[in-house]
Amino acid sequence: MNRLYYGDNLTIMKSMPPDSVDLIYLDPPFNSNRSYNLLYKNTTGLPIPEQIEAFCDTWELDYEKTEQTLEIPRIMQAYGIPADTVQFWHYLVRALRTTDTKLLAYLVYMTVRLIEMYRLLKSTGSLYLHCDPTASHYLKVILDGIFRNGNFRNEVVWCYKSRPQSKRYFGKKHDIILFYSKTDEYYFDWKAVARPLSEATEKKYRLVDMDGRRYRLEGRGIKGSPIQSAKDVDPKWAETNPELVVRDYLDEKIGVALEDWWQIDVINQSAKERLGYPTQKPLALLERIVRASSRENDVVFDPFCGCGTTVEAAIKNNRQWIGCDIAIHSIRLIQDTRIKKYGLVEGSDYRIDGIPQSVEQARYLFEQDPFQFQHWAIERTGGFCSNKKTGDRGIDGKIYFEAGGALKGMVLSVKGGAVKPADIRDLRGVLERETDVELAGFISLQEPTRAMQQEADEAGFFAYQGEQYPRIQPLTIQDLFDGKRWHCPSIVKTQNKHQGQTFLAL
Ligand SMILES: C[S@@+](CC[C@H](N)C(=O)[O-])C[C@H]1O[C@@H](n2cnc3c(N)ncnc32)[C@H](O)[C@@H]1O
Repeated sequence: MNRLYYGDNLTIMKSMPPDSVDLIYLDPPFNSNRSYNLLYKNTTGLPIPEQIEAFCDTWELDYEKTEQTLEIPRIMQAYGIPADTVQFWHYLVRALRTTDTKLLAYLVYMTVRLIEMYRLLKSTGSLYLHCDPTASHYLKVILDGIFRNGNFRNEVVWCYKSRPQSKRYFGKKHDIILFYSKTDEYYFDWKAVARPLSEATEKKYRLVDMDGRRYRLEGRGIKGSPIQSAKDVDPKWAETNPELVVRDYLDEKIGVALEDWWQIDVINQSAKERLGYPTQKPLALLERIVRASSRENDVVFDPFCGCGTTVEAAIKNNRQWIGCDIAIHSIRLIQDTRIKKYGLVEGSDYRIDGIPQSVEQARYLFEQDPFQFQHWAIERTGGFCSNKKTGDRGIDGKIYFEAGGALKGMVLSVKGGAVKPADIRDLRGVLERETDVELAGFISLQEPTRAMQQEADEAGFFAYQGEQYPRIQPLTIQDLFDGKRWHCPSIVKTQNKHQGQTFLAL
């Protein structure tokens, strides 16, 4: 069944069966050394100080990635990847460890995932890796090793126009899409994506037969014929020497096979398909890939699906699909826009995995990835998440509400493990420290103790328009599933800047 996964694609891919996917398109972070934010405005018009980070594209060789540099050769060997490639990996690690650890961290991250993608592909399957010249040359070498270079098919150059950014070098206006097949038996349908004949070429089909079909008259390739390979010969030849001519019918023309450079417009500020997700790719680009490299009902997989361009291309072209993203707002966005547009029903048409549906599942998510658990919990109560993994001085997230014509903040703190009165005291400290913050929410898996509740009660109330709002409000995950929410003046609904989509469910 079609699926959307919330989570790290590495874990998810490891749980998927081998030889189960026909086409993989991936548009991972490019090693651009920056963060990508979702830009939000709100219904009141008051400016929201923070923006949600969609994803971060900066790299460091942390403990996990250092471990993986050692693990990669073992996985490569287990998957039958040639010894030369394993050896090459050793050299690459040795060279980059002293020269560019950020690049090494990025390549480690990509390599473990590309090996899994290779495993998932069917023998007739293909992979398209979308990247840019920052690291495309390194990624190609790695892919050559994993896929064996005989299975390299194209380096597609996606060219687009947008404002030039630099006067110190030529404008960087193309991305690279590396196309590999798993074997030589791969599926590819050039006709499905052929470019229609140009108007000028169509005009050359000037002659019309008795059935109204347009054609050109050509010389048949007969040795010694005076019109052996001539185009558009005089129709008199058809009367005098019919054996020397042949009709080339317009309606039998499929079109022109595409080259490896594609000019497709980027999604501009006013484009209808724009969802406001940073790095969103044009649907036309994804449709081209999906139609060329998969048949109807084939399984298309995008492990970095972002706002789901591949998912929509697959739905629109009757393919099965699997999308995966580590950002909760990306999963919500796909559901609220693309999936909704095609009227698909959760449960019967597709499934969502990785988003907790019970306290037990929430606990499991916390044990697997505390940061993702925190994102999920905050998003569920309508908040923004802090960009920093460690939390921002006791603040994991924020909510804004309107009081007296100004935006006021409610800070949020999430605890998956054991809770204690000091957690509430810390929140009181935050309330005293932060200006424009009137309320604090405490979300925990565990039920707060009586001492914690007492500590919260001592923080008192925020009074607004005759209503008293507790300054510190504890909520358990069970409370969230029971539908309980923050008690505060009208929460400001945040909207996507471009389409007026409300992403954050309140
Ligand atoms: C460049 S964007 C993809 C944009 C997408 N092609 C589109 O058209 O919307 C990269 C995406 O990868 C996601 N991502 C980054 N690391 C991930 C991981 N380890 N597992 C799953 N998704 C990840 C990010 O959250 C981001 O949405």
